[in-house]
Order: sequence, then C-alpha cells, then structure tokens
Amino acid sequence: MKILVTGGCGFIGSNFIRYTLQQYPDAEIINLDKLTYAGNPENLADVADDPRYRFVQGDICDEKVVQPIFAGGVDYVFNFAAETHVDRSIGDPGGFILTDTYGVYVLLEAAREHGCKRFIQVSTDEVYGSIETGEFKETDPLMPRNPYSASKAGGDRLAYSYSCTYQLPILITRASNNLGANQYPEKVIPLFVTNAIDDLPLPLYGDGQNVRDWLYVEDHCTGLWAAAEKGIVGEVYNIGGGNETPNIVLTKSILEILGKPDSLIQPVTDRLGHDRRYALNCDKLRALGWQPRYDFRAGLEKTVQWYVNNDAWWRKIKSGEFRKYYEAHYKGREIASPPPE
Ligand code: NAD
Ligand code: TYD
Repeated sequence: MKILVTGGCGFIGSNFIRYTLQQYPDAEIINLDKLTYAGNPENLADVADDPRYRFVQGDICDEKVVQPIFAGGVDYVFNFAAETHVDRSIGDPGGFILTDTYGVYVLLEAAREHGCKRFIQVSTDEVYGSIETGEFKETDPLMPRNPYSASKAGGDRLAYSYSCTYQLPILITRASNNLGANQYPEKVIPLFVTNAIDDLPLPLYGDGQNVRDWLYVEDHCTGLWAAAEKGIVGEVYNIGGGNETPNIVLTKSILEILGKPDSLIQPVTDRLGHDRRYALNCDKLRALGWQPRYDFRAGLEKTVQWYVNNDAWWRKIKSGEFRKYYEAHYKGREIASPPPE
C-alpha cells in the first residue's frame, strides 16, 4: 500500500504518519514536505529510519517534484500540506492562496495523469464559516470568512470538481480544531500551555466566548482512515470531536491542569473577522463505524502532559523565528479589563 502524505512534518501529518506505520504493516509512506516554518523533521525522528518511510523535501506547488512521485505509483494520497494559521493569513494571505488552492491543483493534475486509488483532500470545518446555533452538515453552503478558510475552500471545491469532471477518486474531509503532540506553538493550545509553564501571560482574544470543537489528533487519524477506506468517492465527511468549548473554559482548564493562577489570563484585542463558533454534525462518518475516543478533558490532559514532558521541542521553536512573530503579532494589544468569567 503506497501512500503519499504531503505536509507530513507538520502537526497532524506527523501524527498521521506515526499512526499509519503502527496500524498498517504493509504501508509504504512518502512524505512530501516543503519544510516551512511549521514543518519540523524532529516530529518524525522516531520513524526516520523505518524502511517503510521516505522523506522528500519539496513544494506541492512544484510539478517537477510532484509529477515523478505520482509516476512512481501511489495508492492513497492524503494532502495535509497547507499554510494553516488564521492570524498569519490575515497579515499575509498570498502564501495561503498558493499552497492551499494552487498546490491542490498541482497534486490533482498529477493524480489525473498517473492515477491513484483514493485522494483524500484534508479540508477543515472553517470552510463553512461561523455558526451561532446548530451544526454544519456536509451539504451546507461554504461561507469562509478569512483568507485561510477561503483558500482551503478553494482546494476543497477544486478537489470536488476533479471528482465530477474527471472521475478522480476524491474524498474530502472537514475536521474541527485538533489538539495533541507536536503542534506548532502559534496555535492557541500549545501557545497557552507553554506560556503558562513559563508563567507568561495567555493572550485571550476578545471576550473569550468564541467556541471551538476540539478533536484529539489520533481521533482525526482514525476518521481520515475511516473515510478513505469506507467512504464513498466524491463525498465530503465531517470529522468533529463533539467537544464544543468556549475559549475561556479552555484557558481556565489549561491553567487548572498546570496548577497556575487565572491571573495569567491577559485579554487582548480581538482577531479581525473572528469566527464565533464552529460545530459539526458527524452522523455521516459515524454511520461508517467511526467515533472519537477522547473527550475534551482526556485529550487536553494528554496534550498538556506532552508539552510538559517535551519542553526541549517547543523551547527550540519559541526561541527562533517564532519570537519575532510573537512580538509583532501581540505587542500593544493588551486590554486593561479583568479576565472574562
Ligand atoms: P501545520 O501548519 O502544523 O503543518 C503544515 C505542514 O505542511 C508543514 O509541515 C509545512 O512544512 C507543510 N507545507 C506547507 N506548505 C507546503 C507546500 N507548499 N508544499 C509542501 N509542504 C508544505 O498544519 P496542521 O495543523 O498539521 O494541518 C494539516 C492539515 O490539516 C492542513 O491542511 C489543515 O488545513 C488541516 N486541518 C487542520 C486542523 C487543525 O486544527 N490544525 C483542523 C482541520 C483541518
Ligand atoms: P487557533 O488555535 O488559532 O485556531 P483557529 O483560529 O483555526 O480556530 O485559535 C483557536 C481559538 O483561540 C480561536 O477562537 C482564536 C483563539 N485564540 C486566542 O484567544 N488567543 C491566541 O493567542 C490564539 C492564537 C487564538
């Protein structure tokens, strides 16, 4: 079973590769990753010498890299490669449009020319936009509200178009916010956990009442494989954790697990166009036999413990490029109000 994983040195991709090598003895994985600031080969140090694993450094937008990989024969494609941080997309959208939309086109063209058994486009719940009440179903219209989600929606619909037009065996998955090991510490959970460990402020956006549905990364991996193996070609599958949580509750839970005071919470000005709430209906994937194993608390405790145990991993990142980003992004945004309840 030859598997192309793109973006495998990032957060979810690295967890997915490790999970797949453990669960599928006949898996042979090529990991195509450009190694942007978010890509880190250390995430896969433990499998680097596995004879079933091969790393190729390259850009999914570069057909000279992509075409030969497909020409060598690929059964499954899981396209994780993307620019992924909403805040960075607000500051500088260009790279998002390139990788998250155009890059998908380059992969699809290679699949069209050389074929594959299943092409899984890893999309996101953020393509639906924000929802005040209820949950999004796969058939709901896409209303992305920031450059990241709009670029992902481009890739999502382009993949669908190749299924309709060229009968490519495409499946599209839309997962909710993931948590777990090896997430770059610009995202809220690793940022808040690592700041709290060092008694630094936790910059909470707006009123802290924005809601995300947290999915433990291993549950995302099982969901991706359920869709790939049992899903219907051309269809979309939502993958949600069923763990809707307001950011203030998430923040206080992190502090409680670490035994740190709520006074570390620092309200800051809100993100532009901040999506209020995401929520997914996952009946379609559950009908294939999938269900998440981790509830919010279990996933969060495991995740916090990983960052406590692996401080060398994140300290190295936080002392590099990240420092400049952090200062530029958060400086001067403090609001002098008390932390939200
Ligand atoms: P990440 O930012 O941690 O990793 C992205 C990886 O892609 C990095 O290794 C990076 O080097 C690589 N990459 C970026 N541009 C590339 C390019 N042009 N060519 C090749 N490689 C490139 O991201 P993540 O959080 O692991 O997300 C993985 C995928 O899952 C993304 O497609 C994202 O949209 C989707 N997703 C993420 C979440 C989440 O909560 N993190 C939720 C739903 C869906
Ligand atoms: P994030 O991890 O960036 O994921 P996404 O925007 O893709 O959902 O943010 C998750 C939530 O946490 C979101 O509502 C924004 C909020 N947030 C903060 O309050 N402070 C922060 O410093 C960051 C990065 C996010």
